[in-house]
Amino acid sequence: MTHTTVIGQPLSRIDGWRKVTGGAQYAAEFNAGPELAYGVIVSATIGNGRIAEIDSTEAEAAAGVLAVLTHRNAPRLAYRPHKGFGVDPLEGERLHILQDDHIHHQGQYIALAIADTFEHATHAASLVRVDYSEETAVTTFVAANVVPPDTAYRDWDRVGDDRRGDADAALTTAPVCVTGEYIIPRENHHPIELHATIAAWEHDTLTLWDKTQWPDNVRDEMAAVFGIPAANVRVISPFVGGAFGSGLRVWPHVTLAALAARYVGRPVKLVLTRRQMTTGVGYRPRTVQRIILGARHDGGLVAIRHECEAETSMYEQYTESVVNMTQYLYSCPNVATHYRTAAMNVSTPSFMRAPGEVSGSFALECAMDELAVAISMDPVELRLRNDTDHDEHRKLPFSSRALRECLMAGSERFEWGRRNPRPGSMHDVKGRVKGWGCAGATYPVYTFPASARAQLLGDGSALVSSACSDIGPGTYTSMTQVAAETLGLPIEQVRFELGDTRFPPAPAEGASALMGSVGSAVRAACAEARRIALARAGEKDSDDLGDVMRRLGEPIEAIGSINPGGEAPRYSMHSFGAVFAEVTVDPYTGMVRVARVVGAYGAGRVINPKLARSQAIGGIVMGIGMALMEHTALDERYGRVVGGTLADYLVPVHADIHDIDVIFLHENDPHINPIGAKGLAELTTVSVAASIANAVYHATGRRIRALPITPEKVLDVPES
Ligand code: MOS
Repeated sequence: MTHTTVIGQPLSRIDGWRKVTGGAQYAAEFNAGPELAYGVIVSATIGNGRIAEIDSTEAEAAAGVLAVLTHRNAPRLAYRPHKGFGVDPLEGERLHILQDDHIHHQGQYIALAIADTFEHATHAASLVRVDYSEETAVTTFVAANVVPPDTAYRDWDRVGDDRRGDADAALTTAPVCVTGEYIIPRENHHPIELHATIAAWEHDTLTLWDKTQWPDNVRDEMAAVFGIPAANVRVISPFVGGAFGSGLRVWPHVTLAALAARYVGRPVKLVLTRRQMTTGVGYRPRTVQRIILGARHDGGLVAIRHECEAETSMYEQYTESVVNMTQYLYSCPNVATHYRTAAMNVSTPSFMRAPGEVSGSFALECAMDELAVAISMDPVELRLRNDTDHDEHRKLPFSSRALRECLMAGSERFEWGRRNPRPGSMHDVKGRVKGWGCAGATYPVYTFPASARAQLLGDGSALVSSACSDIGPGTYTSMTQVAAETLGLPIEQVRFELGDTRFPPAPAEGASALMGSVGSAVRAACAEARRIALARAGEKDSDDLGDVMRRLGEPIEAIGSINPGGEAPRYSMHSFGAVFAEVTVDPYTGMVRVARVVGAYGAGRVINPKLARSQAIGGIVMGIGMALMEHTALDERYGRVVGGTLADYLVPVHADIHDIDVIFLHENDPHINPIGAKGLAELTTVSVAASIANAVYHATGRRIRALPITPEKVLDVPES
């Protein structure tokens, strides 16, 4: 049909110049007019109890103050039931902000100072006096009630207890067993852009400029909270400075901004502080996993038992797919998985890049390395030995599966064959001990309902739009490529718009599903628009649709949608990968340096290899941070996050990152979605930490099962 091949080209970001010149507007940067007021939050300083007394008189009298909202004067809100598909926990209920005197977690918002300037609001917030009636807060797994989740199914996959065969019986007779407990601390998303909302009311209609991964869900949530029609809410979010999952749900500060704007009758801007970001927008929950692998001496797995305990809040039961990949990654007749939640006086955790799989893969892929050591088998060989051609848990064929190819391509690029398996036996050119580790990776392929509009104009250009967001992968660019190729127009003649609920409905930019979902909708819309144009012009085909449009001289519009579900029940759909890491370890300081990472991925069709490579590098960097640095510390006495600034919360900087090499396997999967893209964002973080931990073992002979791998753990000295 079309003669261009725009898909697959390594185009630079179309919006790149706007970002580097400051032309891209982020949520807090919109001009909401001269009446703009500023909200500053007052947070609870206890983890459990009630507000006995809250005194805002001094704050209200301070310069520039318009109002101070507390539970005593805040209007009662409708809070109609609403759960964003896949993003809100099925069990429990979101916090109702400023509606009563209950405190459920440290940092809970208990008042908002609204003033004419940010400085006045900040000062006023400091003048609010609070007395609490405090109760004991549950802040540890030991004190918590650790229970199976009430719902075994989330709205998109299964969590909780599941089994095939009889793992416990098989483990008693397995010739070789390895067992370990793996601990991943709480981690925060910490995108550079702080979460922010500007809210403005005009009569009973609300406009929000918001940092979000899902504009449509913000609209629906605000409609539910305020009890107004969804048509009365417009959400605008053209640029997002990173989110990693923190922008999937609609958090209480969004409600607070809208509530404040309505209360003072002026637009209100609310920007969270970095510290508020630690408890206000979710986090990766702390997990404790126990895994037992049983195998024959030839490496064949005979049984796996995988248990996970994960923190959640008292008011919502957040669950994630920590144990799921254990069910299908390798061939094994007996598998038992268990998932437990530990409800504590904390804010609700949420999805953070590759939620579930990134945690589960650390346990499973380190355990596989331990098994390889136990039976003296090469760890790549062990994984190949346990490869399978179908999903043994769901008894379905994979729509495509490139684990073997990824392991082969990755080991070749890494030159894995030169590895001496003996720990501590390899050194770099400077004589430092080095270690090589590997891990297999996988992530589910999700496709969600999505739609897009294609408008062909008489001047030969096209405007394509969808209400999705772009949190960083380059959605503006990749969608323009899909549209240009499908329409048969030069890329310069096509504009893609997003981030506005006035555009056709779109799902969250999450679960690595946006390209498969919205990309497929864009393709459908553009194919239909092209078909209409050619039919009107009485032509069968055309090299340049622009010529056709100029001849027609009238605009054409088409909507395209995708409603997945067709082949999903017949195939198990996942992306696969393999990660190889080289570390050097300083024997005196215990510092681990990740000298080299090779990631090989089978993730379906790659729309733009430059963006994809960039996406993968970002995912691997995040995995390096998880392996060596990231840790949100909770003071168990108070349930309070310690620090909560980017000075305390370490993430990799340029000096921490060295050689990263990325391989994409050519993969043509006709079953997953019309565009053939499996998604990359999450997959590229999965198993990075395991490959590094395995490399640290290979370098030092020390098996570190608790992240992050700090110098203290490497040297085996108590952490200060
Ligand atoms: Mo991703 S955790 O679905 O933003």
